[in-house]
Amino acid sequence: MLLILLLLQALSPAGAWIPSEDWESGNVTASVGEAGQCVCHVFLPDTEFPADRVQNMQQVSKDLILEVEIQIKKMVSYEGKLEVYLSELKDLTMRVAMLESNPDDYIKLDFELLRVELREFEALVSQLKDSLNSSSPMFDALYTEIRNMTLIVNQLETYDKSNLELIRIEFGKLQKKLEECQEDQDVIKPDIGNCNHTGIMSISKPTVVQLNAHLNAGFQYGGWGKDSKPIRGFESMYWYGAYSSPSVYDFYLYSDYKKLLLRSAFKIHDIPSGWEGTGNNYIVHGNAIYYQHNTPFGMTKLNLTSSKYDSRVIPEASNRFSYVYSPNQNLDFSADENGLWVMYASEESKGKLVLAKVDEKAFGIADQWKTGAYKQLAGNAFVACGVMYATRSVDLNTEEIYYSYDTRTKEEKQHSIHFQKFQEKYTNLHYNPSDQKLYMYNNGYYVSYNVKFNRS
Ligand SMILES: *[C@@H]1O[C@H](CO)[C@@H](O)[C@H](O)[C@H]1NC(C)=O
Ligand SMILES: *[C@@H]1O[C@H](CO)[C@@H](O)[C@H](O)[C@H]1NC(C)=O
Ligand SMILES: *[C@@H]1O[C@H](CO)[C@@H](O)[C@H](O)[C@H]1NC(C)=O
Ligand SMILES: *[C@@H]1O[C@H](CO)[C@@H](O)[C@H](O)[C@H]1NC(C)=O
Ligand SMILES: *[C@@H]1O[C@H](CO)[C@@H](O)[C@H](O)[C@H]1NC(C)=O
Repeated sequence: MLLILLLLQALSPAGAWIPSEDWESGNVTASVGEAGQCVCHVFLPDTEFPADRVQNMQQVSKDLILEVEIQIKKMVSYEGKLEVYLSELKDLTMRVAMLESNPDDYIKLDFELLRVELREFEALVSQLKDSLNSSSPMFDALYTEIRNMTLIVNQLETYDKSNLELIRIEFGKLQKKLEECQEDQDVIKPDIGNCNHTGIMSISKPTVVQLNAHLNAGFQYGGWGKDSKPIRGFESMYWYGAYSSPSVYDFYLYSDYKKLLLRSAFKIHDIPSGWEGTGNNYIVHGNAIYYQHNTPFGMTKLNLTSSKYDSRVIPEASNRFSYVYSPNQNLDFSADENGLWVMYASEESKGKLVLAKVDEKAFGIADQWKTGAYKQLAGNAFVACGVMYATRSVDLNTEEIYYSYDTRTKEEKQHSIHFQKFQEKYTNLHYNPSDQKLYMYNNGYYVSYNVKFNRS
């Protein structure tokens, strides 16, 4: 009441306020005070004060502030990404300029790769644009530039048609050099297979390879990587699978890294009816893909040599528990220096991760360990040198290994080993003992990390 009185006084310049007829009727009265000031009396029963509505409004405005904060955070994160891409685009522009000025320098020619990168940029820019829900001159300029570069690349290619054979030969030489380089690296790495260390010390910066082979940012659920125990002749093979929902319908195989980049698969396995899977924590081990299918819920093996399918029910495993970034991730396959593993949560473990060793010959569970990590709090998990590591989110761009369970000592440890993410969510993270790398399918992008073990 006092509040309203003061408000009315404040609204009326001293002496100038003349009470109208309305104000005098019933519950509102006005009069002139002793000092000549205007006095207004308003009688409002307290019960009518809409306290609950004010409270509701306060909550709504709190929510709005939070929402704005989230959007601002997003903007900052996108700005960072955009900067990275702008600098890469600059690099690409330089390469195209070099091609233009020196068409004889065939070593640097790789039109298909350039086009892949351009398409990737286009997808990324459109994705960013959608997320920000804005049309800004900066995005439009980027589009124009990308389109312009695509044109130039196409022009250059037709210009060089007559020399295509020469390009092919030189390209072949380059490819061979690359492969030799990679082989050298593998030979030089002395620690492959060596588990004489006390666990993971750090994770490198991410290598963002590219957007998935479908060039589809909507294919958020998937995985990629290498065979963790390749058979002879398939040492350089890469695999990939993804879809717009957490389901499994096909797998793509590439003979080497270059073919992966060019999206030129030597084999596509369209999963036949009845063998489709769910979840995305599949891996390739010993030339077989291990994945989860739900009816009946169990683990499936697709033998890539024979193209035969086989499945097993794991009675303890529950399909009620998944990781935080995706539904359906009930069985998580992993391979390390000791062989094949599968992780799941069970009713008996009350949602905590159970680590199980897979007997590859019998295709069954050989042994199990109960860990202390709640599956529904973890981003993902993987096994390296007989130790299970669980991850979780720190912020939009950072993930951490926060927990480990050693199957030899049954020892649990807390950690805070941070590593960067390119995008917030990921659906497949696994260690590969053949190159000591982590492979991540990061919201549609292929990302990898080097793992450093503590050998002190
Ligand atoms: C004054 O307030 C009372 C209580 O809310 C109400 O019943 C009455 O009708 C009001 N009188 C006038 C003249 O508005
Ligand atoms: C994007 O903007 C349009 C028009 O301004 C609006 O109708 C739409 O709801 C917005 N979408 C999102 C996801 O904010
Ligand atoms: C396209 O690129 C060429 C060569 O860099 C440049 O001269 C031209 O102005 C560009 N066009 C547009 C629309 O950006
Ligand atoms: C393991 O590493 C430690 C420290 O580097 C070394 O002393 C030990 O001999 C190694 N053990 C084996 C079996 O290689
Ligand atoms: C796949 O099939 C081939 C040929 O039948 C067989 O030799 C091999 O052991 C099988 N691999 C697995 C992992 O089952």
